[in-house]
Amino acid sequence: MPEGLLMQFDEFVARRGVAKNRSEVVRDLVRDALVQSQCDEPGTEVMGTLTIVYNHHATDVQETLHNIQHANLGLFVSSTHVHVDEENCLESIILRGEAIDVRLMADRILGTKGVQHGGLFVTAVPIDA
Ligand code: NI
Repeated sequence: MPEGLLMQFDEFVARRGVAKNRSEVVRDLVRDALVQSQCDEPGTEVMGTLTIVYNHHATDVQETLHNIQHANLGLFVSSTHVHVDEENCLESIILRGEAIDVRLMADRILGTKGVQHGGLFVTAVPIDA
């Protein structure tokens, strides 16, 4: 490995604290790549955390989001709502299901009129765990 790359990696390891050494951090990075690849396999059961921000005064966004969740009970595990300020809300929604279903549902919510920003993080139990 080039020395400069190794130095940057050691700084990266140091930022993660003292609990893990270099080889343990390498193992985590490999596992992350494998889990992300696993999550792309059709039929894989995944968990997703979708975070969205919206203005609750805008259109009927809150009611639409509520209706989507009630109509798809099998995919939605829970949600947490935070009132950010007088107008804006943040919701963190946990989804569970087949990878394709979770991604399509996340896209549907992110595409809901009034949702201003958001993103999905998908994970699964590593196969070697
Ligand atoms: Ni709110």
